[in-house]
Amino acid sequence: MGAKKGRYIGTIVTIREESKNDFSAIKQTNDKAFGQSKEGKVIDKIRKSDSQMLSLVAEINNTIVGHIFYSTAEIMHNDESIVGMGLAPIAVLPEYQKQGIGKRLINESLNIIKAQSVPFIIVLGHEDYYPKFGFEIASKYGIKCQWDDVPDEAFMIMILDKEKMSDIRGVAKYKDEWNEAM
Ligand SMILES: CC(C)(COP(=O)(O)OP(=O)(O)OC[C@H]1O[C@@H](n2cnc3c(N)ncnc32)[C@H](O)[C@@H]1OP(=O)(O)O)[C@@H](O)C(=O)NCCC(=O)NCCS
Repeated sequence: MGAKKGRYIGTIVTIREESKNDFSAIKQTNDKAFGQSKEGKVIDKIRKSDSQMLSLVAEINNTIVGHIFYSTAEIMHNDESIVGMGLAPIAVLPEYQKQGIGKRLINESLNIIKAQSVPFIIVLGHEDYYPKFGFEIASKYGIKCQWDDVPDEAFMIMILDKEKMSDIRGVAKYKDEWNEAM
């Protein structure tokens, strides 16, 4: 039996960093939210190679119901590489969606990243969703997506270090592992 929408409002949702015991549940959460296994596979690969990644889970009664993942991203500006973070993916189990869990995952992960000296975060996603959290269309800043077929409004950026980013223009790239998922 599937859970009904609205059933979990008022339930305590814990947001915390992933631990080794969560890897399989994180994969399942992504597989179910996306209806495919691509995202979960890329996460498993990047986890082995990216020491800067951030991976948070949302838990209800010790069960993982949501996940957010950031890996390093870079913008090539002339010959200089500016390193920031790329949000991808965020996933909430279908029966737990539209109850604020995604919002908690984004807000709490942004608090962690903002406390570090990360100059920017990129995200590829729904134009109605990410601007709620302060993301802006990246082309406004002369920052382009590495994939040509992505609609302009779907590629967004959050500038965290205005000074460092003031004259940075160029192509933003996720880690190579994401090429396989595109
Ligand atoms: C996208 C996703 C993570 C959102 O999680 P969620 O827990 O349902 O989101 P929330 O309940 O916190 O919603 C936050 C806000 O975004 C809105 N929203 C939720 N899903 C949305 C969507 N797909 N498109 C546009 N807006 C959306 C909500 O209405 C809410 O708005 P409000 O704050 O003004 O009320 C979830 O729907 C999901 O896992 N989808 C499948 C995987 C996916 O597409 N991931 C994103 C691409 S990486």
